[in-house]
Amino acid sequence: SMHIFYGKAVLIDYLKSIKTNHSTIGFVPTMGALHQGHLSLMQQSMSENETTVVSIFVNPTQFNNPEDLAKYPRTLEEDLKKITGLSSEIIVYAPPIDDIYDGKPSSNFFDFDGLENQMEGKFRPGHFNGVGTIVKRLFEIVEPSNAYFGEKDFQQLQIVKKMVAKNKMKVNVIGCPIHREPNYLAMSSRNVLLSPEEKHEASIIYKTLIGAKEKFKTNSAKTVTEWVQKVFDKNPTFTLEYFEIADEMTLLPCLRKSKTKNYRAFIAVIVNKIRLIDTISLN
Ligand code: PAJ
Repeated sequence: SMHIFYGKAVLIDYLKSIKTNHSTIGFVPTMGALHQGHLSLMQQSMSENETTVVSIFVNPTQFNNPEDLAKYPRTLEEDLKKITGLSSEIIVYAPPIDDIYDGKPSSNFFDFDGLENQMEGKFRPGHFNGVGTIVKRLFEIVEPSNAYFGEKDFQQLQIVKKMVAKNKMKVNVIGCPIHREPNYLAMSSRNVLLSPEEKHEASIIYKTLIGAKEKFKTNSAKTVTEWVQKVFDKNPTFTLEYFEIADEMTLLPCLRKSKTKNYRAFIAVIVNKIRLIDTISLN
């Protein structure tokens, strides 16, 4: 009795047939290889909406690195079991590439008022144009009332909010807390690519964020950043790609602390060619 759709036309018809005047649709876009972080977004959507739609689509246009796209885990059968385990009512949209893209997949260009030029945007050229392209298309297909995004990808969350505001789209974008492994590593589909030792050692990421949060109470962003760099200089397993303390709204680096701003620390590290990101609120 699971509701799974591989084509948008049939999905759109079905959603039309079940939608009533007052009912809301909650939407959770994913790239699959589902873990507890994804499932928590689905649970929140189910508690707040009559209908929940989950998409599973590894979007090629947001991968700047072809090797990353090639080794991205694809586990549709297990994903569907996990979703059914939550609720047989959840509607799944798992399209093939040509249901989304006509011909060779390509991105549209987006202006996110500079949010796209910071952090992930610097290290993953074109990534956020790909995210904007797919999320806009999915929103147009599903027409959700509420859409759920994890704070783990905080820059993506802010970019989706910006896109919705600029295009006056009628969807509430809701940020959800980060789910972590028992050793506090942020859950990620890419974690299955780590060896047990790498996964164990990856607790250094969150530990460093907690340390940075403590230090930021009495130190400048620059001093904290230098401390983080030193921590990773001493660690042979992980290479620090960036650590940044930034204003949550603009994502611009914190040069001088202002009491009226909310700050957040952002980190990206590489282990054995696998990129891991994490973030923590500093307020
Ligand atoms: P994906 O990495 O599969 O993540 C899907 C959603 O789950 C995102 O909103 C992400 O922030 C959230 N998420 C991932 N790990 C999480 C964790 N540990 N705790 C809480 N939430 C978590 O993000 C994408 O896919 C894609 O860019 C997508 C938005 C689907 C567009 O292709």
